[in-house]
Amino acid sequence: MTLALTGATGHLGRLVLESLLARGVAPDDIVAIGRDTSKLADFAERGVQLRTADYSKPETLAAAFEGVDRLLLISGSEVGQRVKQHGNVIDAAKDAGVGFIAYTSAPRADTSDLVLAPEHKATEQLIRDSGIPFSFLRNGWYTENYVQVAQQAKHTGLIIASLGDGTVASASRKDFADAAAVVLAGPGHENSVYELSGDTAWGYEELAQVVSDIVGREVTYKRVSSKEHRTILTKAGLPMGQAGFVVSLDTNTRDGALGLVTGDLARLIGRPTTPLAEGLAEAYAAAE
Ligand SMILES: NC(=O)c1ccc[n+]([C@@H]2O[C@H](COP(=O)([O-])OP(=O)(O)OC[C@H]3O[C@@H](n4cnc5c(N)ncnc54)[C@H](OP(=O)(O)O)[C@@H]3O)[C@@H](O)[C@H]2O)c1
Repeated sequence: MTLALTGATGHLGRLVLESLLARGVAPDDIVAIGRDTSKLADFAERGVQLRTADYSKPETLAAAFEGVDRLLLISGSEVGQRVKQHGNVIDAAKDAGVGFIAYTSAPRADTSDLVLAPEHKATEQLIRDSGIPFSFLRNGWYTENYVQVAQQAKHTGLIIASLGDGTVASASRKDFADAAAVVLAGPGHENSVYELSGDTAWGYEELAQVVSDIVGREVTYKRVSSKEHRTILTKAGLPMGQAGFVVSLDTNTRDGALGLVTGDLARLIGRPTTPLAEGLAEAYAAAE
């Protein structure tokens, strides 16, 4: 059984590789696919097969998927390009006779107002249309996303946001990676949709407390309106588009797009998800 993953060079991909190996998958049954496989030399040394492919170059994908039974498509990072890119991956997987695709999607991708959801919804539809058995891993927010918030708060003592009492059911990347490895390597996940979240949803008052403990100073959550938030971000030098994106995400969070707790992630990985305080402290220390 040959298991492959795209995006293997990224943060999540590397953790999935570690998780597959830790679960006893034979290294030569794993195909790690990336644009620059020199980033994966350490895995090649451990016997993992490396193949080069780019989501934007269909001919590279055809060669990468030869002999692959089960594929994890890790969503790309080029927002706006991804439906076309993922479509190339799905077409190539179909042509190569891949028997199963797991895809890293977004929470409630088919119904959510989340600003990032449309590309994931469209990709899910392409996978359904392909007829290839699938699993949608609708990953919630990574706890690691808040390292930068903590770094800024260390200097300012503030976390400024326009999400009100919105909550985030985050989990560590490793938790999501373990789930992806379980689904890729194990039976019984055909045509499944998992809403993957941390075991608890936390608000920004709690985040401020956790960040205070991590950075060693009092940190306060400052609530601002969407309009104020946009002004603060643009005055700080963020381009208009990016500021709008951040504010939209806060609006989505305020409206509940990231706060759903389902238990799917803990059930898949067979353990509780990593709590915010532990996951953020670890990620913050790693980034220092
Ligand atoms: N749930 C969340 O909180 C969250 C947060 C951020 C991102 N995401 C999504 O989850 C994915 C994985 O997260 P991550 O932390 O591992 O992100 P990451 O470290 O940025 O990794 C992205 C991976 O996608 C690959 N990639 C991007 N464009 C590609 C292309 N055209 N062809 C082939 N490969 C391409 C990158 O390859 P290179 O190494 O060659 O660049 C890299 O391996 C992201 O790509 C994004 O879609 C989720």
